[in-house]
Amino acid sequence: MSDQRIVTETMATDDFHRPSIQQRELWSATYEFPEHLRDLMAGKKMFIKTYGCQMNEHDSEMMAGLLRAMGYESVAEQDEADIILLNTCAIRENAEAKVFGEIGRLKPMKVRNPELIVGLCGCMAQEEAVRERLSRKFGYVDLVFGTHNIHQLPELVEQARNSQETIFDVWEKAGDVIENMPKLRKEGVRAWVNIQYGCNKFCTYCIVPYTRGRERSRLPVDIVDEVKGLGQSGVKEITLLGQNVNDYGLDLQDVYFAQLLRQVNEVGEIERIRFTTSNPWNFTDDLIEAIALGGKICEHIHLPVQSGNTDVLKRMNRSHTRETYLRLVDRIRNKAPEVSLTTDIIVGFPGETEAQFRDTLRLVEEVQYDNAFTFIYSPRKGTPAAGFEDNVRLEEKKERLQRLMDVQCTISHHINQRLRGQVVEVLVEGESRTNRQVMSGRTRTNKVVLFEASRTMIGKLVHVRVEEALTWTLKGQMIPSPLLVEA
Ligand code: SAH
Ligand code: SF4
Ligand code: F3S
Repeated sequence: MSDQRIVTETMATDDFHRPSIQQRELWSATYEFPEHLRDLMAGKKMFIKTYGCQMNEHDSEMMAGLLRAMGYESVAEQDEADIILLNTCAIRENAEAKVFGEIGRLKPMKVRNPELIVGLCGCMAQEEAVRERLSRKFGYVDLVFGTHNIHQLPELVEQARNSQETIFDVWEKAGDVIENMPKLRKEGVRAWVNIQYGCNKFCTYCIVPYTRGRERSRLPVDIVDEVKGLGQSGVKEITLLGQNVNDYGLDLQDVYFAQLLRQVNEVGEIERIRFTTSNPWNFTDDLIEAIALGGKICEHIHLPVQSGNTDVLKRMNRSHTRETYLRLVDRIRNKAPEVSLTTDIIVGFPGETEAQFRDTLRLVEEVQYDNAFTFIYSPRKGTPAAGFEDNVRLEEKKERLQRLMDVQCTISHHINQRLRGQVVEVLVEGESRTNRQVMSGRTRTNKVVLFEASRTMIGKLVHVRVEEALTWTLKGQMIPSPLLVEA
């Protein structure tokens, strides 16, 4: 029998009604590393494999920070590691299948090296069915913890080292917002900054509210301090993270997202600010104005629509209709015409008819997105839509996905053609994947640009004349002059 401990946090974060910032300070806790575990694992190696979204990427940076404080060093090869953590995603079935495949592949390593610690965390760990499957079939996994108790990692690793059985420690509810956790960020010019945890929206297809709990905003002062620190350490671009960043501050009395953006815009050393995900609801004129300000706030909005048909949207429990969404796009483009728009779309939602799908195609044509992330609906156990009748064949869904991707490819290609010959501002991020002489960076509108330059340009804002516009990347020549035209 495994040591199954499901600890339920008693503090009712669900129940609090817009506490003031002062009251809210009572909910925040400052992290203190357990000193008896510091450097305990000096000389040992860690490998964290991350699946899923930017939240998970950033959570992995916290886990790496905690393990680093225990003395672990990062390694690039899994085979060399003394601890392997799989930070998992539950958003679609194939994301989960990948993880179970990976756990299977770890078994021979664990047999060869019984001292190896194998841990599973992230959104899948929050699912009871996953925990049951792990305890039935994957007894060699040493540690399972969830999204709400990452801060306990050092103590959990210590327990796992001394236990023959799987340690399960998953909180069903979130506790305090924990500040000051050590973070080992991927080196580079860009960094993630959480502004809000969880989601209250309960879209009927989506597992995130169950794996991440209710919305909780970090205090503005903590966010601004973190951004300042990042700027001082050489970071040039930050991305503010939340499932619904527009709702930032709704659980606090004195602040809302547009205000936070303006505050972060004041932080000296940072050159660019991005944010994701901005949902179609609660997208105020004030927020559009803050984005239109330009400054450091980049002209790119990821605005997931999911479907172009109002009946489907209702069944998805999205808070927008086709019409309100299109009106929002107009409002944005009227005030900030240079903004690039990207989106997420689900095809083959239960019962989606061909006519409803064509509404999505028409909407995509009408909006002219710069890019769209498209998915076939995947039923998630425990979500309402998993119980909806689904009479659309998988073959049909695959075909719809292909038709949608074809339409979007044509649009993305067409939009990029307009940039040929133009000069764009690029933040240089690093070498391109395939050629060390070629640098890669992004426009303010989030388009990838490749151009020849030396590594000394990394972290700098440069100007590039676009010579070739492919569907997903731009290629060009760096130019010395500041003849800037916004991309
Ligand atoms: N909070 C963000 C979305 C986060 S999940 C928002 O609401 O915009 C990222 C994307 O995964 C979603 O936008 C949706 O398009 C997709 N997705 C979520 N659940 C899914 C499911 N069950 N099947 C297929 N795609 C899904
Ligand atoms: Fe999921 Fe909807 Fe929340 Fe986005 S807003 S995370 S799609 S429930
Ligand atoms: Fe996946 Fe969890 Fe993110 S389900 S998309 S890792 S919030």
